[in-house]
Amino acid sequence: MRLFFALGLEEGINQTARAQLVAYKNSLSGVGHAVPDQNLHLTLAFLGDVPDAYIPRLQATVQDLQLPAFSITASTVEVWAQPRIVCATLASPPQALLALAHHLQTLPVWPAKADSHAFTPHITLRRGVKDDDALDLPTPPAQTFACQRFGLYASPSSSSDESIPRDNEGRALYQCLHQFSLC
Ligand code: 2AM
Repeated sequence: MRLFFALGLEEGINQTARAQLVAYKNSLSGVGHAVPDQNLHLTLAFLGDVPDAYIPRLQATVQDLQLPAFSITASTVEVWAQPRIVCATLASPPQALLALAHHLQTLPVWPAKADSHAFTPHITLRRGVKDDDALDLPTPPAQTFACQRFGLYASPSSSSDESIPRDNEGRALYQCLHQFSLC
């Protein structure tokens, strides 16, 4: 199963911030397509294809991490040429977020896929964009999210799989397999 750890940003206290970020995402137009509202997240570690047999060990290892809760403020928007996305970014990522991501990227049971770039926390809003789409991007409203938990998510590896959960436009949704609490 294709797995990743992410902040789901769905804590009750985040509902207003989340709704405003969703509204901002859905206000963007141009080349590319918005990610489904339900898929909004901040990836902490992308594990790639993990055999099912490893999942209980992964969960047990991560359950034992005692890491602090924190908050993040998404206040900037960027267009990245590779991958071709529009994303909300953080002006100053907290140390606790970077430490959490580092722990999850270096789990001995299944280290994350090596990335050629340094970890840059971001929330993808639109995919399949081109560089020059940046010209029309309005400034996003700064949104603060309390991060009290994170999840292990499954991402469909084949878009034609009929068993994948989908939204009402037929877009594939990520599945949260397990939630972990921060202290
Ligand atoms: P994103 O965080 O930029 O949106 C599931 O595919 C999630 O893992 C997506 O959110 C995706 O990008 C993130 N991800 C990170 N590295 C990836 C990779 N090499 N392949 C696919 N998805 C990756």
